Amino acid sequence: MVCLGNICRSPLAEGILASKLPKDKFRVDSAGTGSWHINQPPDTRSIATAKKYNIDISNQKGKHFQKSDFEIYDYIYVMDQSNYDNVIELSETPEQKAKVQMILNELFPDENVDIPDPYFGLPNGFEIVYKMLDEVCDIIAKKLIAKHQ
Ligand code: 4NP
Repeated sequence: MVCLGNICRSPLAEGILASKLPKDKFRVDSAGTGSWHINQPPDTRSIATAKKYNIDISNQKGKHFQKSDFEIYDYIYVMDQSNYDNVIELSETPEQKAKVQMILNELFPDENVDIPDPYFGLPNGFEIVYKMLDEVCDIIAKKLIAKHQ
């Protein structure tokens, strides 16, 4: 799960998807294309929103997306178009490019709809982002379980 800062959207996406998958079969992680928040916990608003739905993301630590992540992960979901462009820029092969997808394309195929960045927005932005991610992670989890279990 990749966003810009790895403190608002992708930590929520990581926590939500991980909660829907068997822990012994899948590895879910998140990172940012920016490096400002390395080793920092998620934004307190993301932590509080996840907690409301019984998901604990408070132990996550900010990471910077690395080229080596293309080798570690089979699926790379990005939150918005600029994340997509930044991750694609780091890719080196068609196989790596094919791993990168706008996350909401799992819900609205080919429409390239962004998960909006709630960082500078209204407080209810986090709730809206949570609901969007919860809906799309349901689809992703079902697909992954069907394909890999
Ligand atoms: P995120 O939100 O990409 O959803 O984690 C942001 C958080 C911080 C910043 C940008 C986006 N920032 O510029 O510090």
